[in-house]
Amino acid sequence: MKSVISPLDLDVEEVNDLMDLGSRIMADPKKYSHMCDGKILATLFYEPSTRTRLSFEAAMLRLGGKTMGFASADSSSATKGETVADTIRVISSFADICAMRHPKEGAPAVAAANSTIPVINAGDGGHQHPTQTLTDLFTIRSLKGRLDNLVVGFCGDLKFGRTVHSLIRALVNYKNVRFIFISPKELMIPDYIRNDLLIEKGIPFEEVTQLEDILPRLDILYMTRVQRERFFNEEDYVRLKDFYILDKKKMELAREDMLVLHPLPRVNEISVEVDKDPRAVYFKQVEYGMYIRMALILHLLELDTGI
Ligand code: CP
Repeated sequence: MKSVISPLDLDVEEVNDLMDLGSRIMADPKKYSHMCDGKILATLFYEPSTRTRLSFEAAMLRLGGKTMGFASADSSSATKGETVADTIRVISSFADICAMRHPKEGAPAVAAANSTIPVINAGDGGHQHPTQTLTDLFTIRSLKGRLDNLVVGFCGDLKFGRTVHSLIRALVNYKNVRFIFISPKELMIPDYIRNDLLIEKGIPFEEVTQLEDILPRLDILYMTRVQRERFFNEEDYVRLKDFYILDKKKMELAREDMLVLHPLPRVNEISVEVDKDPRAVYFKQVEYGMYIRMALILHLLELDTGI
């Protein structure tokens, strides 16, 4: 029984197999529409979500399974003081697989250690978000045709952005990927990514504050939201929230084949006028997310997909 808590829980071969399966499901979803008949997915979300929770639920429903769960800590017995370890022991008797989001870093790992069913980390604090990473990799590979030989720019909140931390961790496994980190100094990548991962592995990266200067060099621009919920004071959030706004004028500086990704939700960091640009693929990215989650559910339930 395998859980997915960090992108490191899936090796490159497994990720490639999942993307291959995701592509096959996307090409012929009907073929997979009864593969999870009789199975139940529990979604335990202690923190708000639109995409991840509903994407997991849509994935299970489209595989023929059923879903149950809660969408906020307030509607669970966490309000009465129940621990994550006890909750997952209970849920293990009800469901076959579980997706958990929690504001505390490490909570899904605690759940996995106390579970008899696979646990998928659907985002823990500012730490990791492995299924967003699978979504991002699947989007890039599907639309660019490769995951190596890329210049990837990450822009915005690189300090608290768990989707950024997870995607960097996954992309270092591919050949000749160069990173450019674009952020105000208060929101630079954490030391454990800079020192323990990039410097340690000898991966080339640059850290800059200006988006315009580096736009022409990028294959991928990964925009992120400055997350109000991660700030300790409102004043800092207000000062930094509109530091970067990608608009039509800035897009003129970018290559014709550059892709703009964003894990969403977006606030002001991408102007709505950019949505019409064919290089803006963040809504398509959501669709890829559902198919790769279908593939992950099938993989973790060890169902035979060789049909
Ligand atoms: N990308 C993402 O995690 O979105 P939600 O917060 O809506 O789940």
